[in-house]
This record gives sequence, structure tokens and C-alpha cells, in this order.
Amino acid sequence: MSGPIGVYDSGFGGLSVLRELRSHLPEADFVYLGDSGRAPYGGRDAHTILDLAEQCVQRLFEEGTAVVIVACHTVSSVALRHLQARYGNQARRVLGVTIPAAEAAVRATRGRIGFLGTHGTVASGTFATEVHKLAAVEVIERAAPLLAPIVEEGWETSDVASAAVARYLHLLGDVDTVVLGCTHYPLLRRAFEGALGPDVTLLDPAPYVAARLVDWVQRHPGFVDTGSGTLRALTTGDPARFAELGARFLAAPLPKVECLHLHDGRLVSGRGGATAGQVVR
Ligand code: DGL
Repeated sequence: MSGPIGVYDSGFGGLSVLRELRSHLPEADFVYLGDSGRAPYGGRDAHTILDLAEQCVQRLFEEGTAVVIVACHTVSSVALRHLQARYGNQARRVLGVTIPAAEAAVRATRGRIGFLGTHGTVASGTFATEVHKLAAVEVIERAAPLLAPIVEEGWETSDVASAAVARYLHLLGDVDTVVLGCTHYPLLRRAFEGALGPDVTLLDPAPYVAARLVDWVQRHPGFVDTGSGTLRALTTGDPARFAELGARFLAAPLPKVECLHLHDGRLVSGRGGATAGQVVR
């Protein structure tokens, strides 16, 4: 049974991916779940990430979606295979961001790819694994844990942002392509562009993720409703803060944010089907 497209992230960051998905599929309906009450995920151990991700993906299926995009690089790197094995079947699919990011990087590179992400993403080594399935190029991965909080503070155009970005780029060394491997980093585009030489390609995977989804939807009829461009936003955190911060990532106002209550720190399942969304363009 088809439905809206589910998009899952640890918090607000995935709204930068949703922004691209909506611009590529303007008629599709979306349900976004940001687990901001339990974010950040980037420093958490793999078992915890798997557990949190299971609860959120299950909830998105319960909300009436038939395909869930894991927009979070940390979850995609650590838990995607597990989520696909657990939830994927003839009627439901789970898709991630790591393979599109690897494909785009291989297309862009002249031989040395630099990748910045969270501790969890980098520790998994998944991006390099996916790149090496496609090409024999060098991949240098570094964790950049200070960057997401800088964005959440709204300091992305400050000296603090420029200094932190320059430090992390220095850790990557001599690369020809830099992949923004965390959903927060596209908001630091100006700081990256200011620090990178003209020969280095800066790659935000989100437009490639969106293009791959368009292709997937065409090849898999029956998963996604024709829709009317509605959006529902669900959070496990504070809905007011989510709406305020989220608007910066989505580059548009959010509809009324729905709060998902946690019980003993867990997202309880059992909700019914999707309710009507609200058009925000
Ligand atoms: N959304 C996460 C990612 O893309 C970053 C924020 C977090 O650590 O939860 O990896």
C-alpha cells in the first residue's frame, strides 16, 4: 500500500535533506521524524543507534509510510543494513544516504576524497567501503564533532565556524573533493568555500540523494502516493525549538510540529495511520 515518504533523522539536520527531496518531488507528501529529544547520535555506540533507529523507523511505518529515507549519515552508516533486513519487504523499504554520497564522490574525485562526519559515521568506515566498491581511490575520513553544535547555535557565519572548519580541513590534508557527511554541514557551505582552494570540489550529497530517490520512485511504483506536497513534522523533543531551528535547515517555515512522547526514554509504538498534513511551500 502506498503512502507519504518517511524521512528520519536524529534531529533537525535531516531537514536539509528533506529540502532537496521536496524540491525534486514537489507533489509527494512527506512525514519527517526528527529524534531531537535523544540527539545527538554522533557520539553514541552502535547498539544504541540501532535501538533508537528501530523505534523511529517503525514509528514512521506506523504513520502510514511505505518507504523511509534515513537522512542521517550516522544512522545510514551504522544501522542501514540492519534496518533494511528488519523492516524491508515487498511492501516496505528503507533507503539511506551513504551509497548516493559515495557515488557522487567517485564521480567528482580525481583520486583523493576527504570525508567529514560524526564520530559514529567515521568509526563505521561505511563511506570508504562503499567508495571502494566503485573505484580504487583514496578516502580520508575524519570526525568533526564541533561543527554540528556550531550550526545549532546559529554561528555558521562566525569566526568560530571558519576556524573550526579550517582545523578539520587541515586534518583531511591534501584532498581534491570534500564530502559534507553530516546533515548539519550544508549550512556551513560558506565557511567551507572560504577555506577551500579553487581546485577542491565541495560536495553536499543531499541533491544526489534526492535525484536517486526520484529514480527509485519511478522504478518502484506502488510505494509513494501521488500526493499534494504536504508535510508532517514529528519530534521527540521540544516542538517549539524544533520549529524554530528546523526552519533554518528546511529554509522554509515548518507546519505545526507534532510531539512524540517518550516513555522511560523509549518511543512507544501503536499509533494509527497518517493524518492529514499541511501544505507549506
Ligand atoms: N544527523 C546526524 C548526521 O547526519 C548529525 C547529528 C547527530 O550527531 O545526531 O550524522
